[in-house]
Amino acid sequence: MLNPLHKNIVTLIPGDGIGPEITASMKQVVNALDVDILWEEHNAGLKVFEETGALVPQSIYDSFEKNKVALKGPITTPIGTGFRSINVELRKRYDLYACVRPIQSIGNVPSHYQNVDIVLFRENTEDLYMGLEEKIGDDEARSIKVITRPASKRIAIAAFEYALKHNRKKVTVVTKANIMKLSDGLFLDTVRDVSKHYPTIEFTEILIDNMCMQMVLNPNQFDVVVTENLYGDILSDLGAALVGGLGFVPGANIGVDKALFEATHGSAPDIAGMGIANPTAMLMSTAMMLDYLNYNKQAASLRYAIDQLYRDEANFTKDIKGPLNTHEYTAKLIQIIQASRGKVNAKTE
Ligand code: NAI
Repeated sequence: MLNPLHKNIVTLIPGDGIGPEITASMKQVVNALDVDILWEEHNAGLKVFEETGALVPQSIYDSFEKNKVALKGPITTPIGTGFRSINVELRKRYDLYACVRPIQSIGNVPSHYQNVDIVLFRENTEDLYMGLEEKIGDDEARSIKVITRPASKRIAIAAFEYALKHNRKKVTVVTKANIMKLSDGLFLDTVRDVSKHYPTIEFTEILIDNMCMQMVLNPNQFDVVVTENLYGDILSDLGAALVGGLGFVPGANIGVDKALFEATHGSAPDIAGMGIANPTAMLMSTAMMLDYLNYNKQAASLRYAIDQLYRDEANFTKDIKGPLNTHEYTAKLIQIIQASRGKVNAKTE
């Protein structure tokens, strides 16, 4: 997996919008965890694009290729026009095929649901996200959806292997194979084949429209979920709404020998620069990164501290109508980490 020589050097991309604010919070918190990580900081985003014309500066590619692990803040992508998503570019270039998003209830964060614990595996390289679009005259445009057996197989294996390793009971595949019989049919068929190699794990199938309803009706019926790129993107945001909002859901993009960790949310231009962004999703992504780097104890301490913090309404962040701004939240979290030192047992996610 990791090159041991570079084990503690991580490429850090703060991003834009609220990215720099939540990145600053993350750095302070990681400092408090006593982890010997050296950040190699490079930025991408709207400003860098306007200044240099480069979608992603070469320095990011060089750094990520060397370090193999990156932590990234959100980056603004213009809607409809302008450059392609930098996120999609990085995932594609480095074949970061497995997007892993744990959707989990935290502390007493207000929600209609309790004890939600879903881990979503989203195929990250294919589907309608390949950028294969063409205009047919003025009044027609087409996007091509690509699904292949090898890509479907490896995301299915990633989901089942995760389930096995983490003692999960069930994997659910989500498609729209009743309508897209060839493309979604191939994805479904491939996941079915993979499921046969995991007889101890229950395997269920559901269509995306019903999945959206079932997640809202009763999210606790789901455990590990595996799906295509577009459905996974949509289900991530739907899932975030079940556990308090976008400020709470982390993510990892994992390839064969590289991994990029980032929150599910975007650059939140509506609150950028106001000092009220919630860094939890970025910090939970950091916990996933710490586990990946085998800092399991520190990852557990971080998750424990976040959960403890959100047990008390007086510590709620502004996004859930609490009093704490980004700076106050960070200080409180560090206090809890320091007070709970030595009390937390490592549990890898
Ligand atoms: P968004 O996730 O940035 O914001 C949606 C809503 O959630 C906003 O009201 C925002 O204030 C709130 N929100 C999001 N994260 C929050 C946090 N940590 N704390 C408090 N409130 C938070 O989604 P939107 O507005 O659709 O996208 C804005 C930009 O971000 C777009 O250019 C989009 O392309 C980009 N984007 C980038 C991503 C990435 O870099 N991984 C992922 C998703 C979107």
